[in-house]
Amino acid sequence: AKSKDVVLEEDASLPEAVKTKIKYLEKHRGKRVRVSGWVHRLRSQGKMMFIVIRDGTGFLQVILGGKLSQIHDATLLTNEATIEIVGQLQPVPEEKSAPGGHEVLADFWKVIGHAPLGENSYLTRFNQESGPSLLADLRHLVLRGETQAAVLKLRTCLLSSFRNSLDGLDLKEVTPPCIVQTQVEGGATLFGFQYYEEKAYLTQSSQLYLETVLPALGDVYCVQESFRAETSHTRRHLSEFTHLEAELAFITFEDLMTHIEDAICNTIDHLLATPGVSELMAVLNPEFKKPTRPFMRMPYTDAIAWLVENKVQHVTEETEDLPDDQKVYVDHVVGDDIAEAAERKMTDAIGRPIFLYGFPSHLKSFYMQKMKGPEGQGPNGMAFTESCDLLMPGVGEVVGGSMRIHDADELIAAFKKQGIPSEPYYWYVDQRRYGTCEHGGYGLGVERFLAWIANRYTVRECQLYGRWPGRATP
Ligand code: 4AD
Repeated sequence: AKSKDVVLEEDASLPEAVKTKIKYLEKHRGKRVRVSGWVHRLRSQGKMMFIVIRDGTGFLQVILGGKLSQIHDATLLTNEATIEIVGQLQPVPEEKSAPGGHEVLADFWKVIGHAPLGENSYLTRFNQESGPSLLADLRHLVLRGETQAAVLKLRTCLLSSFRNSLDGLDLKEVTPPCIVQTQVEGGATLFGFQYYEEKAYLTQSSQLYLETVLPALGDVYCVQESFRAETSHTRRHLSEFTHLEAELAFITFEDLMTHIEDAICNTIDHLLATPGVSELMAVLNPEFKKPTRPFMRMPYTDAIAWLVENKVQHVTEETEDLPDDQKVYVDHVVGDDIAEAAERKMTDAIGRPIFLYGFPSHLKSFYMQKMKGPEGQGPNGMAFTESCDLLMPGVGEVVGGSMRIHDADELIAAFKKQGIPSEPYYWYVDQRRYGTCEHGGYGLGVERFLAWIANRYTVRECQLYGRWPGRATP
């Protein structure tokens, strides 16, 4: 008979099949099951077809034999088509292996949705020149690949682990607005837009809102998208990123760093203990080792000394836009910003998480509290701040945090010094006027943290649909 003439019908006399997701199959071994999914791999051998399907919860090998592989739909079947299969779930023979250690010997199957064959087929589209730009255009299809799906599954587990960790430390989750009329991290990276009759911005950080919530809810956190009009095309800068931010009341700078360390270590412990994560880590980062505690703490001035000693120089401002052979490099001095390349060299050389703290106030945002005592005084009247960045090998800065100026007059003076009009911040200043307290907090870039833990080259792989200059599709 021609394949077009062969029609399959489900045999009503067979025992009823259990409809299930792939991850729950094990308890149904020996029974008839019904599973739907996408064709992940496909291979024909004589009159048999071996298919691996996936449904987001796992992978399953399916065998179509006899008449089942002869129908017309079987000749059209290709990667990424969706199918439903029904059949006996049995352990794989000892000498063979299959995901989950079992396979379905199908007695019925049907196509739910075909996928293109020929030059539009899933595999062909990637096998054509697959430059980064093409892969970004095809991100919606790239996501289906094993590695990318593993990164995103790990991201899901990571977000749960962050929440578990912060809930465990008695912080409450809140959801501040994304549409704002104030800046947090400098006017240069604000995305502005027309908001009815007014000007508004996409938030750079929810920090200011979290501060105002302390008197109402106590310690709080949020997981919110932040937006930065970054012009730097680096492997760790995005125009939109997921920002985990927390704020704590009645603490010292020391408490803040200890809290960040707790929050991160508890998150990692929870993540690694999450079912399925060890399989994901085996694919993505088999060498991963939990960081040892306590994290190294390094004052900013020691970092400058380390860079000088290890001959890590920086390009002068006057020559940074010139061609490479005309750039001039000089040693770092106290007061210099530590740029990404230098920071990365130091972090990679030291090879473990580092709390870099006490940055000069002229490099930092308006709200940062100055360090007290002689430790807070630098050369030429320079003041150091109670600020810290957590640096991870391979990625660099993943967390930025600080204590906040908690005196209203000092805050107003800080606005003035940076040329920021203070009126739009009346509510932020009120946080100091109506019962102030020493407080501080931090922001953690979820994509950077994920890039570190999943050993990805760039944060661009760590978002569902990355946003960077020139990229807002799909
Ligand atoms: O150091 P940042 O700019 O600090 C703040 O926004 C504070 N207001 C946070 C706070 O105290 N509540 O950003 C914090 C973290 C960085 O360490 C980095 O991990 C991430 O956010 N981040 C970015 N990630 C990807 N792309 C960008 N353009 C990022 N900018 C910051």
